[in-house]
Amino acid sequence: MRKPVIAGNWKMYKLLSEAVDTALRLKPLVANANHCEIVIAPVFTALKTVADRLEGSNIKVASQDCAAQNEFGAHTGEVAPVMLKDVGCSYAIIGHSERRQIYGETDASVNAKTKAALSADLKAIVCVGEHLSEREAGSANSVVETQLNKGLEGLTVDDMERIIIAYEPVWAIGTGKTATPEQAQEMHGHIRQTVAKTHGDAVAKDVRILYGGSVKPDNIAELMSQEDVDGALVGGASLEADSFAKIVNFEK
Ligand code: PGA
Repeated sequence: MRKPVIAGNWKMYKLLSEAVDTALRLKPLVANANHCEIVIAPVFTALKTVADRLEGSNIKVASQDCAAQNEFGAHTGEVAPVMLKDVGCSYAIIGHSERRQIYGETDASVNAKTKAALSADLKAIVCVGEHLSEREAGSANSVVETQLNKGLEGLTVDDMERIIIAYEPVWAIGTGKTATPEQAQEMHGHIRQTVAKTHGDAVAKDVRILYGGSVKPDNIAELMSQEDVDGALVGGASLEADSFAKIVNFEK
């Protein structure tokens, strides 16, 4: 059984006090949710405080990115995965489409960051997804396959236990256009087959594949009803404790 993961990506929103406030509001609302792993990803500057305030709860904290190096050194502006682990992170989101589009993240950097995150004992939420033009040209499957093959290259079967894949079609992020449950299922199935080819059937069967892109309280249930959708990476709707809690508690 794959335990679902519901992760909230807060992007570059919330001052520290607001981040703490949202996290503390969320805590009682999801206190009984044992059916899934619950993750929130505040900005770097809020990670330590939020992680401290959530200690002992069922909400884990993720960074939205990480450096590709764990050795201390001359990397101005970067934050090493060991430092994220040190302040209470359990996960790192890697290769989000905004990182790829705006900050030049490549499949090679995603691969290096993923390896660095794993070696610091973080779980990595590795994001993939096609642009609208690629979907319209019929190349969505091959684009995602390449992102996976390169992004997860060199990872062992053991490493893969700490990998979570997030499929986020770029055209669905922040646009209000969700992929239909059928579109999500089709790509998630393809992702599982791709992982089976590179890492074997057992790994593919167990790897969690999250859907992301305009997930809301009113569409989570039908997305989660798809066989290969194992959770969600939520942007906008994770910023309010109430709406994120509704997504976490969708079964109830
Ligand atoms: P959205 O963002 O839910 O606001 O579409 C998803 C994401 O970027 O992870």
